[in-house]
Amino acid sequence: SGAAVAAGVASHVLDVPDFPEPGVTFKDLTPLFADPDGFRHVIDAVVEHHGSDSFDVVAGIEARGFVIAAAVAYATGTGVVPVRKAGKLPRRTVSASYTLEYGTATLEVHEDAFHRGERVLVVDDVLATGGTAEATLQLVERAGGRVAGFSVLLELGFLHGRQRLAPRQVHALLTV
Ligand code: PRP
Repeated sequence: SGAAVAAGVASHVLDVPDFPEPGVTFKDLTPLFADPDGFRHVIDAVVEHHGSDSFDVVAGIEARGFVIAAAVAYATGTGVVPVRKAGKLPRRTVSASYTLEYGTATLEVHEDAFHRGERVLVVDDVLATGGTAEATLQLVERAGGRVAGFSVLLELGFLHGRQRLAPRQVHALLTV
């Protein structure tokens, strides 16, 4: 059930105070990824929510989004497109800059990453301010794809990141 999946996420999140800088509490989901049942249940929940017929490819946001994207793609017989921090991708890219909870950053995707009109499921571990997700939506559209859905394992509701993505729906396994 959704409540059981949410409880599973909650029981594997570690709050790390003052990381990566003073005043920020980092949500560390590595214990969830490392737990066999916990990991399988969250991947299954993402796949079940969207249905494997609603998207053609999975975009994972560096770095923890890669872990989720790979598993979802494998489970659904699709592929993975990496959305990466600036300067990491070797060929021509489209890029989008955004403000993070701590500082600014730029994300990139290869300009030919998507077929025209391809339906893209975007996944990441945490939705905080929504800057990362908003930049990714812009990248997908500029690169010719269409966002079919957005899934995160954990949403920090008090930062209202979801509002930056409206009217698009965001699926979160756990909102705190
Ligand atoms: C974290 C997280 C999301 C993003 C969410 O990534 O994994 O990608 O922040 O924040 P936002 O909603 O405020 O934009 P981080 O910047 O720590 O990058 P990393 O996964 O490469 O360490």
